[in-house]
Amino acid sequence: MYKIAVAGTGYVGLVAGVCFAEVGHQVTCVDIDEKKVELMRSGVSPIYETGLEELMANNYSAGRIEYTTDFKSAYKDADAIFIGVGTPEQPDGSANLSYIATVARQIAESVEKDCLVVVKSTVPVGTNDKVEQIIQDFLVKDVKVEVASNPEFLAQGSAVHDTLHAERIIIGTESKWAEELLTKIYEPFHLPIVSVNRRSAEMIKYASNDFLALKISYMNDIANLCELVGADIQDVAMGMSFDERIGSKFLNAGIGFGGSCFPKDTKALEYIAKQNGYELKTVKAAIDVNKEQKTMLYKKASKRLITFNGLKVAVLGLTFKPGTDDLREAASLENVPLLLEQGADIYAYDPVGAENFAKVYPEGKNGRGSITYVANIEHALEGANVCFVFTEWGEVKAITPETYKKLMRTPLVYDGRNIYGVEDMQEAGVEYHSIGRKP
Ligand code: UGA
Repeated sequence: MYKIAVAGTGYVGLVAGVCFAEVGHQVTCVDIDEKKVELMRSGVSPIYETGLEELMANNYSAGRIEYTTDFKSAYKDADAIFIGVGTPEQPDGSANLSYIATVARQIAESVEKDCLVVVKSTVPVGTNDKVEQIIQDFLVKDVKVEVASNPEFLAQGSAVHDTLHAERIIIGTESKWAEELLTKIYEPFHLPIVSVNRRSAEMIKYASNDFLALKISYMNDIANLCELVGADIQDVAMGMSFDERIGSKFLNAGIGFGGSCFPKDTKALEYIAKQNGYELKTVKAAIDVNKEQKTMLYKKASKRLITFNGLKVAVLGLTFKPGTDDLREAASLENVPLLLEQGADIYAYDPVGAENFAKVYPEGKNGRGSITYVANIEHALEGANVCFVFTEWGEVKAITPETYKKLMRTPLVYDGRNIYGVEDMQEAGVEYHSIGRKP
């Protein structure tokens, strides 16, 4: 078993650290945020993730994981240091690599024995070379430090499961020593390991995420056409899915992809291409379709209602997908301001995302409209003139058409996630609009 340090305790770093401890390694998670470190020491996860706190507790009491702000002591005698800090999007679409560069320098100034630095954060092709250069420039002790790429493929909401049961581990290395060490670290996971060079590993991450984003945008594009020609996108997707070359996953049309990854990684790869004098037309198309898709339902509803002024608008779901409290690039963030500008009185329900949303749109009067956060769906629907579904939470899926009909003043539903049957809604007397299906 190895001594592992992990820099950054976001989705990537913390989940990786906890899972390394779970398979028996000795792990120290490093974060600059004292409060976060205190929180984790008391067993509380700073992120909402199924099963994570339980694993944190088990491994903490077993003495396999600790949390600290003291990077020097964590890095000095580690066999491997995994970097999982953020690479936020900059206004021009490029990735901000300053957090990675800072960690690289701290590593160089701290290590006292040979060690492998492993970049888990999503980084532009060639970044690992730069990280290695920074480490060589600032290295204090005469020790061997190499850099490997090991991109992460977990999805929020199922992060622990995705890590422990990953479909593949990608390792990008430039030496046999690095390849063997990283392979041994992952041995206890018993997962398929794909070993390539560093630049290919970096590219695999972007190419995978952008392919999935493309798949979603393609289905959204086709969905919009389905509406115009009278086809049903769900039947179309079902028919397509029998072709194993296409597969059945990520064919769900809806209100566009959100989250911290697809929007950022599509723009980043487009930027990387541009930097290299190449235009990545397919990825650009995925970005463009997604932008339009986010407000598709709002535009439809606007045409139907003319104005939202003074209307009670139920909003069900605020997060970018279920199973997370993350709002980044969520459809709600595009639509709520439009509704408020129009003078809507919004009643918003989300089982875990409301608190974060209220930080951006505080409860009460908001511009011409207002927003009220409710703890139960019925409260949002009672007397509502129109309802928008932005996130397919289980409890939202469970609402019956009869409930909409009974509770709403006007049973008019705009569903961005295609979670109800068109005929069921019609039979119950609900006017139902969704994506790529008959109105
Ligand atoms: C995504 C990838 O799925 C992970 O493999 C990757 O590791 C991660 O990004 C990352 O780079 O860190 P995540 O952003 O957590 O994971 O969420 P997804 O479940 O992929 O969903 C992304 C968005 O696509 C959501 O808004 C979701 O509603 C939307 N989506 C997904 C669709 O609109 N249709 C689909 O069929 C699937």
